[in-house]
Amino acid sequence: MTKLKIGIIGAGSISEVHFNSYQNNPHAEIYAVCDLNEERAKAKASAYGAKKVFTDYKEILALPELQGVSICTWNNSHAEIAIAALEAGKHVLVEKPLCITVEEALRVEEAVRRSGKVLQVGFVRRYASNNQIVKQFIDHEELGPIYYAKASCLRRLGNPGGWFADAERSGGGPLIDLGVHLIDICWYLMGQPKVKSVSGNTYNRLGNRSNIKNLDFYKASDYDASKNTVEDLANALIRFENGASLMVDVSFTLHAKQDVLSVAIFGERGGAELEPELHLVTENHDTILNITPQVNNLRFDFKDAFQNEINHFIDTLLGQKETRSPVEDGVEMMKILCAIYESAETGKEVRFS
Ligand SMILES: NC(=O)c1ccc[n+]([C@@H]2O[C@H](COP(=O)([O-])OP(=O)(O)OC[C@H]3O[C@@H](n4cnc5c(N)ncnc54)[C@H](O)[C@@H]3O)[C@@H](O)[C@H]2O)c1
Repeated sequence: MTKLKIGIIGAGSISEVHFNSYQNNPHAEIYAVCDLNEERAKAKASAYGAKKVFTDYKEILALPELQGVSICTWNNSHAEIAIAALEAGKHVLVEKPLCITVEEALRVEEAVRRSGKVLQVGFVRRYASNNQIVKQFIDHEELGPIYYAKASCLRRLGNPGGWFADAERSGGGPLIDLGVHLIDICWYLMGQPKVKSVSGNTYNRLGNRSNIKNLDFYKASDYDASKNTVEDLANALIRFENGASLMVDVSFTLHAKQDVLSVAIFGERGGAELEPELHLVTENHDTILNITPQVNNLRFDFKDAFQNEINHFIDTLLGQKETRSPVEDGVEMMKILCAIYESAETGKEVRFS
C-alpha cells in the first residue's frame, strides 16, 4: 500500500512530536517540510528523511502529490495557511488554537465545507488514553450527567516569550495557549453543551518576569523577552444552557507557591480527576469510593496522546474514522475564548444567543 505523503509547516518545538508520530505511523511518509527559518526546516528534513524543504508555505502547498499537512506555526497564521491548504486540496491537522478570532474560525469552517477535505484541530487531550477511559465511563452513564467542571493550569514562572508573548502573533497569553486545552477537554467530556454565557477576567500585573534568576522555565524556539503584550493570568466562569458550569484559571506567571495542574469533572453519580492523575470517584452501597484505574500511566502521556492524535488523523484520511476534533469544535472554542477576552475587557458577562 502506498503511504500518504505528509508535509509539516512550522518546524519548531511542537513539530517534533508531529514528526515522530508520523514516522511511527506505517501509512504516512514525511515528504516535505516548511519553515520561515530555512535552517530549522532543513534540520528536520534531514532528521526525518523528508525529500523537500521550503520557506514559503504556498510552495509546499503547490506540490500536487502532497495529501495532508500539519500546521505547527504561530497562531496568527493558522487560519491563512489552513484555508490555503484546503483550497489546494490538502487535508489539514492544525495545532491548537484553530486561529485567533471567531471571524477567522468561521472562514476556516467555510473552507472545510467548500473543499470537502478533513480538518482536525489539535485538541490533543481528546486523544489521550486516560481521557478516553473517562469518556467511556461517561458514555456508559456511570458518572451520570456532568454538571460541573473545574480546571487550573497555573505556572508560577512560565511566560515562553517570543511569539507566545506577542498578542499579534499569539492572539493572547495563557488563556489561548493553555486555557484552550483545559476548556476543550472539559467541554468535550461534559458532552459539548451549548454555551449560555461567559464571564472572565484577565490580569497583566507581573509582566513576563524575565528578571527571575536561578529558576529555569520553558522558552519559545526564538526566545525574546523584550516584548510582552499578553495577560499573565486569566480566569473564567462558563455557564451552559443545560445548567452545567465550568470554572477555569490559567497563568503564565503568578505569586503561587508552586505550579498547579488540575482538571476535574463532577457528575450526579460520580466524578473524575483527569489531572494531575486519573482517579474516579463514586458511591456504592452508601459508601464513597475513590478508584484508581490500573493503567500504564495515570498522568497525561504526551507522546502517547500525540501518537493517537496523528494515527487518528491518518485513519481519517484513509476513510476509516471520523475526526474526533472537527472544525466546528474549533469554532466553538474560539467563541468561548474570545468571549472571555471580551468579558474581561468590558467587565461584563457575555451572553451567547
Ligand atoms: N498541542 C500542544 O500541546 C501544543 C504545545 C505547544 C505548542 N502548540 C502549538 O503549536 C504551534 C507552534 O508552537 P511551537 O511551540 O512549536 O512554536 P515555535 O516557535 O517553537 O515554532 C513555530 C515555528 O513556526 C515557524 N513559522 C511561523 N510562521 C510561519 C509561516 N507563516 N510559515 C512557515 N513557518 C512559520 C517559526 O519559524 C517556528 O519555527 C502553536 O500554534 C502552539 O499553540 C501546541
